[in-house]
Amino acid sequence: MSLTTTAAAHVAHPVTLRDVRRTFATPTGPRAVLAGVDLELAAGEIVALVGPSGCGKSTLLRQVSGLDTPDAGDILIDGSPVRGTDPRTAVAFQEPRLLPWRTLTQNVRLGLPAGTSRADGAGRVAELLELVGLTASAGLRPRQVSGGMAQRASLARALARNPGVLLLDEPFGALDALTRLRMQELLLEVHAAEPTTVLLVTHDVEEALYLADRVVLLRTPDGDETSIARIIAVPGTRPRDRADPTFAELRAELLEGLGVPTHHVGPAERDLHHSI
Ligand SMILES: Nc1ncnc2c1ncn2[C@@H]1O[C@H](COP(=O)(O)OP(=O)(O)OP(=O)(O)O)[C@@H](O)[C@H]1O
Ligand SMILES: [Mg+2]
Repeated sequence: MSLTTTAAAHVAHPVTLRDVRRTFATPTGPRAVLAGVDLELAAGEIVALVGPSGCGKSTLLRQVSGLDTPDAGDILIDGSPVRGTDPRTAVAFQEPRLLPWRTLTQNVRLGLPAGTSRADGAGRVAELLELVGLTASAGLRPRQVSGGMAQRASLARALARNPGVLLLDEPFGALDALTRLRMQELLLEVHAAEPTTVLLVTHDVEEALYLADRVVLLRTPDGDETSIARIIAVPGTRPRDRADPTFAELRAELLEGLGVPTHHVGPAERDLHHSI
């Protein structure tokens, strides 16, 4: 499969979040879901967001896409504020959200920017279906394909917008383990072929460490706390070795940050073991 694409230049946008706050009303009064979120994503960077359920990961993604607006703070894409549902972004979710009565081709076509000519659109859709390995299934409807294939179509539809920022909310969360690993590889291939800035929400710390340049650990802010508990820069360049021992340490650090006890053997203990 060739990953060379002929589409218009792919522009990856930097994203800036400055002191972003989002509070929701609850029966017991207002609750800050996001507080003091300061984050800069470089153009083309892949940043993973991890954190316990309900800590505001999807809310943060919605702020960047313009589906929801912060109560305070600024969100800038390529230096200008997000307004409305921002055409510079595209979102893909855990479930593919395809129209069941349309073919995969027609579903991907729905992602094209308004005003795309029929001829350009057809070429671009064919190219994207090839990129995600769905050319042979292009004429099928969502119920005729597997969950992984539907998710690939959903990714192609998001890419059809030619987004400068790709927002992925647990995109592989509903897939079996093997399909999930394949989708991770596919995302990296797509990112190499059509570089874009990626903000990825995941519950899978290994996925975060494998895919991302940086992993942002979010927490539910308590009192004056900010939402970002920790930011981990993942060493090395992609493609990464899943068996790299550095990952085991970062994995343990993230799991501990998520409140999951680990029985990780740190470097000092390991030396002790070796010397016994
Ligand atoms: N529109 C809304 N109105 C009121 N509360 C909301 C709204 N949207 C989200 N919330 C609340 O904000 C909190 C964060 O929700 P969010 O969906 O961002 O969490 P999450 O980190 O994505 O969780 P999960 O990992 O389970 O997907 C939750 O407590 C949720 O109930
Ligand atoms: Mg969520």
